[in-house]
Amino acid sequence: MGWWTERVVPRCTERTLSNETVEKLHREVCAGLTGRVLEVGFGSGLNLPFYPSTVTSVDAVEPSDLAWEMSTDRRAASPIPVERVGLDGERLGAADATYDAVLCTFTLCTIPDAETAVAEVRRVLRPGGTVHVLEHGLAPDPRVVAWQRRLEPLQRRVAGGCHLTRDVAQLLTGAGLDLRRLDQAYLPGPGFMKPWAFGSLAIAVRP
Ligand SMILES: C[S@@+](CC[C@H](N)C(=O)[O-])C[C@H]1O[C@@H](n2cnc3c(N)ncnc32)[C@H](O)[C@@H]1O
Repeated sequence: MGWWTERVVPRCTERTLSNETVEKLHREVCAGLTGRVLEVGFGSGLNLPFYPSTVTSVDAVEPSDLAWEMSTDRRAASPIPVERVGLDGERLGAADATYDAVLCTFTLCTIPDAETAVAEVRRVLRPGGTVHVLEHGLAPDPRVVAWQRRLEPLQRRVAGGCHLTRDVAQLLTGAGLDLRRLDQAYLPGPGFMKPWAFGSLAIAVRP
């Protein structure tokens, strides 16, 4: 991980995602989480205040030491025990069927091999377990997609590897997960932000 990604991106990420719109989505995607949960791409712990009381523990996968450090106060304030169990969503250390639920927000855009990461999520979920996902990604409009493709190389360089053209629903169903909910819309904002603003909130079940 280079200096920019290690020292600057976590701070920019926290600032970008700390607003009322995203907070509402974090709250919504956490609803219904239960039992032993794995959060892939824990970041600075912005989801933590929204975990319901039905969650008994959180295992966090997060490569950035700075982001983990930034989560200290949120972890201290949380009644739920949180442990950092890994650094890479593509290689989870847990045994098969360990978790009741997995949470992943604004991270499938960044993990280099997202297909492998989702296959890992499926492996560590128990049958009937759910994965809750919140992401930005591939827009439905060809003109926006054209801009997403143009901007993606730059986006990847400045935003820690973040892609603009990943199809969240396809990633989940392609890994053999059943979509139970899929809400998609552009987040509010000016038109020129559309390449970054097509959001998906998805809940899928491991059959
Ligand atoms: C945009 S941030 C989102 C953080 C948090 N989920 C949130 O919604 O506030 C993406 C996170 O994914 C993490 N990440 C990057 N590569 C990863 C990987 N291979 N496995 C797991 N997490 C990764 C980054 O360090 C970063 O914390």
